[in-house]
Amino acid sequence: MPTLALLNTLDRAAFTAVIGHLFEHTPWVADETWPRRPFRDTAHLHAALCMTMRAATSGRHLALIRAHPDLAGRLVQQNALTAESSREQASAGLDRLSAAELAHFQQLNIAYLARFGFPFVICARLSAKSAILAAMQARLTNTVELEFTTALGEIEKIARLRLNDLIEKSS
Ligand code: GUN
Repeated sequence: MPTLALLNTLDRAAFTAVIGHLFEHTPWVADETWPRRPFRDTAHLHAALCMTMRAATSGRHLALIRAHPDLAGRLVQQNALTAESSREQASAGLDRLSAAELAHFQQLNIAYLARFGFPFVICARLSAKSAILAAMQARLTNTVELEFTTALGEIEKIARLRLNDLIEKSS
C-alpha cells in the first residue's frame, strides 16, 4: 500500500499506474491531476482528481459514465469485472441475487439505458440492494441532465472509497 508521501514523489507514469483505476477504466483523470502535486492529504488529492474530472468535456464525462458496468449485469455473471467493481457489487449483495431479483435488476438496467443512453451509476458500497433498486426506479423519472450530474457525483464517491482503500492510513 503506498503512502501519500510516496505518491507525491512518483513520476507521471508511475502516479497514473498506481491511482489510474480510481475512476473506472479512465486513467486520464489521474494523469491530468499529476501536475497539481504535492497533495497534503487524501481529501486534497480526491478534490484535485474531481476538479480534473469536472473540467473535462461532456464527451469525456459520457465516456467515463459509460465505462461503468451495469449493476448485476452481464459482466458480473461472466466474472469479467475489474477487481474494484467486483468488490463494490459484492458489498451490496449483487453477486448473490435470486433469479427474480436478477430479472428485476436487468429489466431496470435496460429501461435506464434506453431512457438515458448511459448505464445507471450509484456508489454501490454506500447502499444496500433494496436501496439501489429503489433508487433505480426513482431516478428513471429524472431528466437526462440531472442523471448525468448525479452519475458524476456518484463516480466521485466511488473514487473516494477506492482512494481510502489504496492509501496507507499513516500517510
Ligand atoms: N455501476 C454502478 N454502480 C457502480 C459502482 O459502485 N461501482 C462500479 N464499478 N460500477 C458501478
